[in-house]
This record gives sequence, C-alpha cells and structure tokens, in this order.
Amino acid sequence: MLLGIDISTTGAKAILIDAQGEVLGTSTHTYPLSTPKPLWSEQNPADWWNATQLSIHQVVATTGIDPKNIRAIGLTGQMHGLVLLDEQNEVLRPAILWNDQRTGSACDMMVEKIGLEKLIQITGNPALTGFTAPKILWVREYEPRIYDQITHILLPKDYIRFKLSGEYAIDCADASGTSIFDISHRIWSQEILAALGIDPAWLPSVYEGTQVTGVVSAQAADKTGLLPGTPIVGGGGDQAAQAVGVGAVESGVVALTLGTSGVVFAPLGAPQIDPQGRLHAMCHSLPPASGQGWHLMGVMLSAGGSLRWFRDTFASGEGYTKLIEPAQAIPPGSEGLLFLPYLTGERTPHPDPLARGGFIGLTIRHRFAHMTRAVLEGVAFGLRDSMELLRELGGTPIQQVRISGGGAQSAIWRKILADVMNVELTTVNTTEGASFGAALLAGVGAGIWPSTRDACRQVVKLQTTTAPDKRNIEAYNAYYQDYRCLYPALNEINRSLGKKPL
Ligand code: XUL
Repeated sequence: MLLGIDISTTGAKAILIDAQGEVLGTSTHTYPLSTPKPLWSEQNPADWWNATQLSIHQVVATTGIDPKNIRAIGLTGQMHGLVLLDEQNEVLRPAILWNDQRTGSACDMMVEKIGLEKLIQITGNPALTGFTAPKILWVREYEPRIYDQITHILLPKDYIRFKLSGEYAIDCADASGTSIFDISHRIWSQEILAALGIDPAWLPSVYEGTQVTGVVSAQAADKTGLLPGTPIVGGGGDQAAQAVGVGAVESGVVALTLGTSGVVFAPLGAPQIDPQGRLHAMCHSLPPASGQGWHLMGVMLSAGGSLRWFRDTFASGEGYTKLIEPAQAIPPGSEGLLFLPYLTGERTPHPDPLARGGFIGLTIRHRFAHMTRAVLEGVAFGLRDSMELLRELGGTPIQQVRISGGGAQSAIWRKILADVMNVELTTVNTTEGASFGAALLAGVGAGIWPSTRDACRQVVKLQTTTAPDKRNIEAYNAYYQDYRCLYPALNEINRSLGKKPL
C-alpha cells in the first residue's frame, strides 16, 4: 500500500493505492484561503496540518487497511508558496501562496540585481510574482521584524513533510518554482542567493522525487495513526506529480490539465530554457538518469476557472453538462465572438497580473450559447499559445497529448480543444491527479517499481481518443490569429483600468 498526500489550494487530500496502482480510497478536508488585501492570497499552515491529519485518519478508517502495510508516503501540493519558520520551528506569518500578486516591485528588483537573461538562464524562468523568492524580498521590505526571525524556509507540502518527519527537505521539481534554484545542476543557486542576499542556511535539502527524505516520527505517528519509521519520498510540486499520474514521463507524451488553471506539460531529457522565459523550464520529479529529468510547462491561470466564473455569474446553480450542451450547435468561432480568459491576470504566454478578460465581437445576434462556446474556445486558444511555444522551441516531439482534470470530462470541450490545437487528445484511466502521482513516486522510492516509467506503463491506461476535425482546423486557425492580436491591442487600456478604484 502507498499513501499520497496533496496539499492543494482547496484542501489536503490523502489517497491510498495498492501495488497495482488501484485506488483503495481517498479523503479530502478543506481549509479557507484569505485575501486580507487586494492581490494577497494566504493560508494558515496549521490548517494544512490539521486537514492532513484528518484526511489520513479518514482514508485509513474507510479503507480498513493496517497502517503497517503502508510501504511509503509521497507528498505533493501547490507550488511556489512561502512558509517561514523561526528558530523554534514556529510559523512566523501566514503562508503567501502561488496566486498572490503583491510582489511586482520585488520582481523588478530581482531583475535589476541579477539581469533578466542570467535569471532565466539559471532558474529557467523570469521573475514571476507568484514564485517564492520575490515573496522573501517582500517580507524583508515590509515585515522586517518577521524577516529577522527567519530560520527555515519551506514550501507548502514540505511544511507537512517537516510535521511528519522533522526533516527540512524539498524535491527538485518544487524547488524549480522558487526562482533561486539552478535547474540545470539541480542545486540552490549560490549566485542568485548571494545577489538577493538570501541566507542559504534557511533552505531545505534537495532530493529527487523518488528519493527517501526521512521517515514518520514517533510524534507524527501519534497524531496521524501512521507507523513510525514509514519512509517519505521527495514527491513533487503539483504539476510534476500530476504529470506522473497520467504517465507524462516519456518523450513525446504531453500532459494537458484542465482544472481551475490550464497546464501544458512536456517532459524533456535535458533542460531546455526558452530564452524569453515564456514557458516555464523546470526539473521533473524524475531523476536525470530516467532520461526525462526536466520539463517545459505553460500555465494558463483561468481555464476551468473561466467556465466556473461564467456559470456562477450567468447561470448560477446550473450543472456543467447542461450548460455546455447548447454550445455544441454553435459553429466554430461562435459566429465571430471571442473570449479572452485572463480573468485573474495571466502567466503563459503573457506573464501579466494586470491582463484582463473580456468578450470581444458581441452583436445583437449572439445568444447565451454563443457566449458559452466562446468561453470554451477562448480557453482552448489560450492553451494553444503554450502548445505553439512548445512547437516553436522544438525540443520535444508532441506525439500524444493526455488530457485530464475536471474540464476533460466534457466531450464537447475535448473536441473544441483538439480542433483548436490541431492535436489528438487521449483521456486516461487515472483521474485522481497529483496525489496519485505522488503515491506512484512513493512506490518507486519503496522499490515496488524499478522506475517511474515502469510504474506508469503498468498502471496508466489510455481511454477515449478525440481527433481533430480537418473541416474545423482552418476556421480555428483564422480565429486564433485574431485572438493573438487581442492581448497587445488591449494592453494599454488594461493598465489604465488597473489604476481605477476597486
Ligand atoms: C504551477 C502553479 C500551480 C500551483 C497551484 O506553476 O502555479 O499549479 O502549483 O496549483
């Protein structure tokens, strides 16, 4: 038996799987997110730990398994978050999360000190407001008394690792989202730490995703009911673990995740860095010896989130199937209506917290179903942006695109995505997401499978395939050209709107 734990933005999920990859049970306990000021996004690490304990207890109770049969634990969770601990290991302030946007000027400062080119070359990414390092600089600037007490810096899932094992550790995939990690050498970048004045002694030790980082302590065993001594592997940030969960661990197999955000994830045998930093270049949760130690990733912030906003705003209480159904009868391009999905700013390909969404091209002819279809298509155009960048960089063949996440359940949306991106999409049998991938990584660490690739080949099975329809590709190509013009065309007005009172 293997235990996966996912510290997501909404809750702590525990999943138990057996040595064949069968899911025995899951349990999730939620926690709140607070926005004390505009652009801020915070959570209380104590909430994560409480929810983790409850989820572990519940999944063990409902499956009736004996905790001594749990061979290993894998951790995953929201990336980029900042947890600060003092000398007594007490949490110094609420965690600042991946979707927090307060750090614009800290990002500018990073670029000033390091230079954009060098920053991208070492870390694989430009300075992004959601990443960890600018948050540390923000605390130094605005909360100096807290800054002076910092003794340890952890990411969200690694705070849970600390509570479970007493170890300060991180995996290479999650470390890649901090802006202070040298992704080519898989170590903290001393050069960047020195330039930013961040103390390297604060940082956790770095491991590969399948390596054992410690064991469940006696104290944590008391709290969780787990057996003391149960090994805990490195695991991975949620996107890397999600990719493992659908088998994106081989060259040419690309993962497309349609959750609140939308992610295109391509594994790579060597680091490939977009000189303009439009796609994220990061370490995968597989070691380099696996042949797929790195990945490129495009992250769209509001994918399923756009559809949820549309439903909640204009058709509150409606089920997604009923909402989407009438859109099927509308022709591709929604009769000249485009939707821009930048409802919470954007990351790829426009890293811009001030980007805004919109319907463009509305006429008196357009009905509700047109608007619904335009939302589905706008998200597909946004994801095509990432797919085009992958094609442009050319470091990996796009042979098979495995689609997962809530939005992947809609056959109509899958069809639109296949036509817009001109790719064949395949669903898989493994639908539990990042927690499942973390459990597979634990299985490799425990020696159940010789490698993550073996684990995935054994447990991930292909299901429904959606092929692009030649008749629609041309129409969508033309609409995509218009879509691409919208962000630059609206840039100035977005900046002006951003200055207006809330
Ligand atoms: C990845 C990212 C999100 C968060 C929250 O870069 O920002 O996936 O990890 O899920």
